[in-house]
Amino acid sequence: MYRKLAGVCALTLCCTALAAPEPFLEVSLYSQNDPFIRAYGETLQQLTDGSFEVTVNYAQEDLVKEYQQLQLAVKNGAGALIVNPVDPASTHQIIELADSKDLPLIFINREPAANVLNSYNKAWYVGTDSTQAGSFQADMLTRYVLDHPTADRNGDGVISYMLLQGEKGLADTIYRTMSLNHSLDNSPVMFKQEASVYANWQFDQALQAVESFIRQNGIDKLEAIVANNDDMALGALQFLKSQGYNSGDPQKFIPIVGIDATSQALKAVEDGEMIGTVKNDYTAQARAAFRLAYMAMHGKEISQSSTGYYFSGGRSIYVPYVKIYFE
Ligand code: BGC
Repeated sequence: MYRKLAGVCALTLCCTALAAPEPFLEVSLYSQNDPFIRAYGETLQQLTDGSFEVTVNYAQEDLVKEYQQLQLAVKNGAGALIVNPVDPASTHQIIELADSKDLPLIFINREPAANVLNSYNKAWYVGTDSTQAGSFQADMLTRYVLDHPTADRNGDGVISYMLLQGEKGLADTIYRTMSLNHSLDNSPVMFKQEASVYANWQFDQALQAVESFIRQNGIDKLEAIVANNDDMALGALQFLKSQGYNSGDPQKFIPIVGIDATSQALKAVEDGEMIGTVKNDYTAQARAAFRLAYMAMHGKEISQSSTGYYFSGGRSIYVPYVKIYFE
């Protein structure tokens, strides 16, 4: 557990024995092993202006642990909850908990169903429109192949690719994949999906999936790799590099495209090891989530005009993605 207490004077601290506990903002994140989520959490911690504490807890991918941490936070006087749920399909209990104390509740990154969100008038969601990300990936891959006809290494007129998907059932996984497939189907280049594997957002699982595909089918079967996030793209890259690919020889290059724009992926794109990524702007998302929590904790009304954000479906803020592709 990490706490950030900014700008609170010693006098305030020594008087708290008598006063009611200061309200704080509780941030609950599904996993500490996820680099994107860790960066998101660090950003959230830095946003406070000192009028309240921000407490960050990681649920270690455990639904029960997450609920217990939230229960404790509510018992200790949390003034608002920002929750990155372990399982967005099981958030009704979290809503009931927030509702029991009339607390503002902002879900982030892992999107609950609209009807669940609508069931509580102090619940909001901050994330992205994942359909945008998949189509951006398809655009970058299409452009790359049109600019580099030798990408069709076996010369059969078709680009055979492997898809590395995030966690099954999550909105980000579903809509990134759906829009990618739709856009590749409508591309001027012919693409064929040779394999699709759920590597659960994780570097190691992606590395193993690519390794096992290549061991079974040979590297010539693989002409592109698309990953639902950067960590999986980087896992794929690591295996390709171990085989002497994507290491400077233009004859031995398999285009890889990811999503997130983590610092490691940006470096791989800059170094020409990956062709591109899509910025999943966690700083802007953290600011939006924090703003909602801050305003709600200070008793302000949350609306488009008071926050400056557009609310899709009345309760969701979708921060736009940005294509990152170097010539
Ligand atoms: C990010 C992934 C991350 C996942 C966690 C996605 O939006 O792109 O990197 O693992 O969220 O829920």
